[in-house]
Amino acid sequence: MTQNAALPPEIARRRTFAIISHPDAGKTTLTEKFLLFGGAIQMAGQVRAKGEARRTRSDFMKLEQERGISVSASAMSFEFRQYRFNLVDTPGHSDFSEDTYRTLTAVDAAIMVIDGAKGVESQTRKLFEVCRLRDLPILTFCNKMDRESRDTFEIIDEIQENLAIDVAPASWPIGMGREFVGCYDILHDRLELMDRADRNRVAESIKIEGLDDPKLAEHVPADLLAKLREEIEMARELLPAFDRRSFLEGHMTPIWFGSAINSFGVKELMDGMGEYGPEPQPQKAAERAIDAGEGKVTGFVFKVQANMDPKHRDRVAFVRLASGHFERGMKLTHVRSGKPMAVTNPVLFLAADRELAEEAWAGDIIGIPNHGQLRIGDALTEGEKLRFTGIPSFAPELLQAVRSTDPMKGKHLEKALMQFAEEGAAKVFKPMIGSGFIVGVVGALQFDVLASRIEIEYGIPVRFESSQFTSARWVTGPKDVVDKLVNVNKQHIATDHDGDIVFLTRLQWDIDRVVRDYEGVKLSATKEMM
Ligand code: G4P
Repeated sequence: MTQNAALPPEIARRRTFAIISHPDAGKTTLTEKFLLFGGAIQMAGQVRAKGEARRTRSDFMKLEQERGISVSASAMSFEFRQYRFNLVDTPGHSDFSEDTYRTLTAVDAAIMVIDGAKGVESQTRKLFEVCRLRDLPILTFCNKMDRESRDTFEIIDEIQENLAIDVAPASWPIGMGREFVGCYDILHDRLELMDRADRNRVAESIKIEGLDDPKLAEHVPADLLAKLREEIEMARELLPAFDRRSFLEGHMTPIWFGSAINSFGVKELMDGMGEYGPEPQPQKAAERAIDAGEGKVTGFVFKVQANMDPKHRDRVAFVRLASGHFERGMKLTHVRSGKPMAVTNPVLFLAADRELAEEAWAGDIIGIPNHGQLRIGDALTEGEKLRFTGIPSFAPELLQAVRSTDPMKGKHLEKALMQFAEEGAAKVFKPMIGSGFIVGVVGALQFDVLASRIEIEYGIPVRFESSQFTSARWVTGPKDVVDKLVNVNKQHIATDHDGDIVFLTRLQWDIDRVVRDYEGVKLSATKEMM
């Protein structure tokens, strides 16, 4: 992580981040409060209401509604104090984690929300590990302090032990559950009290001159105050103090305690993101690292989403700008095809609605509507040939054969499947033997989503059937050895939508056998997307 004094002020004030959490910890509620304090919405409740309205636009979205999950990620921009926040939303359901992983390649920091009563949960841990792979700085928000929660030291210990990261308290809760009155802001020596009467109101902070300040006793009941003094003393002895460098390097997480639903602790967290969070970071490409402050525009596609209107097969490619100052109408080079691309109708995602982006800076996320030219991993530049790295494609964990129940529609099915593969919604493999396709996903729910989308968007009724294979590995190695492997194991070989060779497996034993018998051949569970 670097802080670059020379960045243009417009870039330096940007904070691009995601919120990660286990389902139900409060990510949606926290997002909503961010938007509220960022002036992007007028009233809490709109994020969900907007979700409802959006869902009615497409039948495929009905699935989200029925299952009560959010399938697609989106990005939202808003102002907070002197900062421009770009909040990239990640789907919380584990079946869609691949999407989430890719989203995390487009951000510079993450906020980890945990439930004060539950602590670190399975999905928290998984997502945290992905952040760690990228050394992302993480701010922690311990939510639902208005309910009975665990002891503060216990929560901090659990994060330290479970996630192997130093935890520095940024605030300290006073009381809990019904007795919860607010927090002591350790970083600024302030008292923050929760307004129980109005969930959307934030009480004024009270400046305190240290823990001996008599003002504390005016606001905090005596027993809670004694406990607070004792705990903070212990915390100062036992826990590390906040160190920004260590945080930016991903070794330490500051933790705030609060209650998203009561708007409590949210502003302090936002201040923390603004004050300590990283500015747009250099992005890695195979050729070199791209610094945000470079004069020329570069960016990469990290997500492709089918447009909401199923009648038009338009797609929106979400592009993270890695450098430069983008202006609407600019001609960029689509590096994979080498073709110029006039970006005339880019969209910025302001929470209230999509808006045409007249300009954007490094760190921003813009949406580019297109007819399928833009794929995940693609680079856009002002001419330079760049290949951004680190956008993973994961080996699917579930494979099924797919066929159309209408035999006349086989050709169309191939086209539909290829589009979904390009969008990153599934892996599609064409086996060497036989005429069908095998579709691979990370979570079972994705099959339902796909079946529903193929039917609605392409009018092809399909059926997924079990397949003898359980996983897939991308094959690389010396050409002669790979050729031999392919010829001898035709029944295991397929190609993906890029034409790359894939080995379909039933058991770990299949993989071990190949590695043993074919020297130099590598079977990998991920492939970097180009
Ligand atoms: P998620 O996106 O991480 O899945 O969580 P979400 O915000 O949807 O919150 C999950 C549940 O937790 C919601 O309750 C929400 O109201 C509640 N919640 C969020 N923050 C707090 C908090 O600070 N304190 C308390 N006590 N509850 C909180 P729900 O009953 O599932 O939904 P709803 O009926 O409130 O919409």
